[in-house]
Amino acid sequence: MTYKNEYIASTQHPDEFWLKQASNIAWFEPPLKGCQATDNGYYDWFRGGQLNTSYLALDHHVKNGRGEKTALIYDSPVTQTTQYFTYNELLSQVAAFAGGLSTLGVSKGDRVIIYMPMIPQAAVAMLACARLGAIHSVVFGGFAANELAVRIDDAKPKVIVTASCGIEGTKILPYKPLVDEAVSLASHKPSACVLFQREQLTAKVDEETDHDWNTLVENSTPAAPVAVDATDPLYVLYTSGTTGKPKGVVRDNGGHAVALHYSMGAIYGISEDDVFWAASDVGWVVGHSYIVYAPLIKGATTVLYEGKPVGTPDAGAFWRMIENHKINVLFAAPTAFRAIRKVDPDAEFFSKYDTSSLRTLFMAGERLDPPTYYWALEKIGVPVIDHWWQTETGWPICSNPMGLEPMDTKPGSSSVPTPGFNVKVLKGPNEEQTTGEKGAIAIKLPLPPGCLSTIWQDHQRFKDGYLREFDGYYSTGDNGYVDEDGYVFIMGRTDDVINVAGHRLSTGEMEEVLAAHPAVAECSVIGVNDALKGQLPVGLVLLKDGVSVDEKELEKALVQRVRDAIGPVACFKRAIVVERLPKTRSGKILRKLLRQIAANETVSVPSTIDDPASVKEIESLMRQKGLVEVSNSLNCEA
Ligand code: COA
Ligand code: AMP
Repeated sequence: MTYKNEYIASTQHPDEFWLKQASNIAWFEPPLKGCQATDNGYYDWFRGGQLNTSYLALDHHVKNGRGEKTALIYDSPVTQTTQYFTYNELLSQVAAFAGGLSTLGVSKGDRVIIYMPMIPQAAVAMLACARLGAIHSVVFGGFAANELAVRIDDAKPKVIVTASCGIEGTKILPYKPLVDEAVSLASHKPSACVLFQREQLTAKVDEETDHDWNTLVENSTPAAPVAVDATDPLYVLYTSGTTGKPKGVVRDNGGHAVALHYSMGAIYGISEDDVFWAASDVGWVVGHSYIVYAPLIKGATTVLYEGKPVGTPDAGAFWRMIENHKINVLFAAPTAFRAIRKVDPDAEFFSKYDTSSLRTLFMAGERLDPPTYYWALEKIGVPVIDHWWQTETGWPICSNPMGLEPMDTKPGSSSVPTPGFNVKVLKGPNEEQTTGEKGAIAIKLPLPPGCLSTIWQDHQRFKDGYLREFDGYYSTGDNGYVDEDGYVFIMGRTDDVINVAGHRLSTGEMEEVLAAHPAVAECSVIGVNDALKGQLPVGLVLLKDGVSVDEKELEKALVQRVRDAIGPVACFKRAIVVERLPKTRSGKILRKLLRQIAANETVSVPSTIDDPASVKEIESLMRQKGLVEVSNSLNCEA
């Protein structure tokens, strides 16, 4: 079937289309209905169907005689370890750990927070929760204790699963003290903590609440998969919004499994015999969907990599991985390739390895800038595919459908809407933008299976944040345009979310941290373009009247505060003191204007500005401090 036929079928007859896709996975009770309206004014998929996601990812393949096939490869240059897990082995570890969790009282609907480095136990813990029908919430290791505490208070987990340490390059980062601090900061107290002790660092244990992973597993009885409703939540994954409070994206079991299974074939062109590597982290949506669930539901081999694109040990790390594990499809963030290119511009490391197994390279997490696209295409010599998605959708909204019908790529575009996603560029409610004109990108409801069903414990926030702006559409928060061939170009966010090294961060949250400093009266955090990480946050701070500080000392203090409150992942390294911030007469800081100055774009000064002279003043200060881009290295053609 060609892409066009498939796309039309999926958008014109969604129920028929997705019920057919649903028949490709092993349900306990198959669904009879596709998409249905819900009492809370939204939709759900496959109501009435029953399944278990860990069963689909593991037991199903074992039952079909594929138990000895490799399910997961763990490759860790930072610990010099490689481990292979067959489907039989992974199933037995997951069932045992699920048994352990159930002795701690975890059962269907309970939440479990997983704060783990990139080790196989992270995937085992996720699948074990799925097995019990418990809802996992994985928190990325680069977040600070305070961020973890916020998530503990929102998700109210019964248990936290962690490890003694993470390893970042040559640094050993203790995780357990951070978990202890988070629990002490949070109002909700989980009843137990399961700790995986790594040989690089032994964490101190609290005899009352902590349980050693190995002991727990040894004393447990393997747990059977629990049947859950298609609409029951599989996980909550927190992502940055415009306010300081992260949003708990809720993913169901049924739609998720159907959509991911479909995507492995239609988008990535993956079969059961392939090796798929998503070079991300289980703490992000890419890790959830494409390190853990999708490749295993498909019955392929997945790869879990504990290392970096450079420095572990060198810029040949990705090529070594491809050669060693015969990787067929690689999925990574453009920032990883910018890092490799920076260290090894001529790709000398590349020629040292046999990468002939690689068929396609997919990129996401941020826009694939044309210079990186051309570099990767020229040096690696396989199709390089930019594809666009978000935590909320859980799988790509736009991509080149390599498994259905490979199309020409256009640099700077994430290609065409994926079957199921009715993508529109809007200039106002019910008003579509003309071809080639920039506007807000929205998706006509209903969204296909696999997308978020709500925000955890806050359906109103879900409605306000995504459904209110355009009646009948889901607002993506991105803007861009569609060209005459139907190719979608994503140009950036319409809100105050920034993207740092493929990580989504809220400037509003950083502003809250800066504003809490006793010397700061007001502030604004903006993303400035960065040749390696895409964007970096910079704080512009206005001091309280009568306060005088050493600017360098203040910057140091603010950097430390963001690190302590949000975490090193924020990469917040710069704060400058300003005399005034441009504002509207009603007192709103003109952040868009600041972003335009930083990007060296034409500045649109609104008529509502309070003091037009403040624009020239701030522009000149930003230039003086080197915050205005000289040439946009991420946009030039090659
Ligand atoms: N646990 C604890 N700390 C972590 C962490 C983790 N899992 N991940 C990152 N950090 C810390 C790093 O140690 C660093 O701390 P530092 O300021 O003390 O040095 C900080 O967070 C920033 O990390 P990072 O953004 O990874 O920067 P880097 O300079 O170490 O590496 C890249 C740069 C480009 C190589 C790296 O960002 C990268 O590989 N990015 C790809 C991102 C990705 O896959 N995104 C997923 C979307 S598909
Ligand atoms: P996250 O939820 O962390 O996956 O971040 C989602 C956001 O990252 C999107 O809303 C976009 O702003 C950006 N993004 C992700 N992939 C792409 C892409 N291929 N092109 C442009 N922007 C992207």
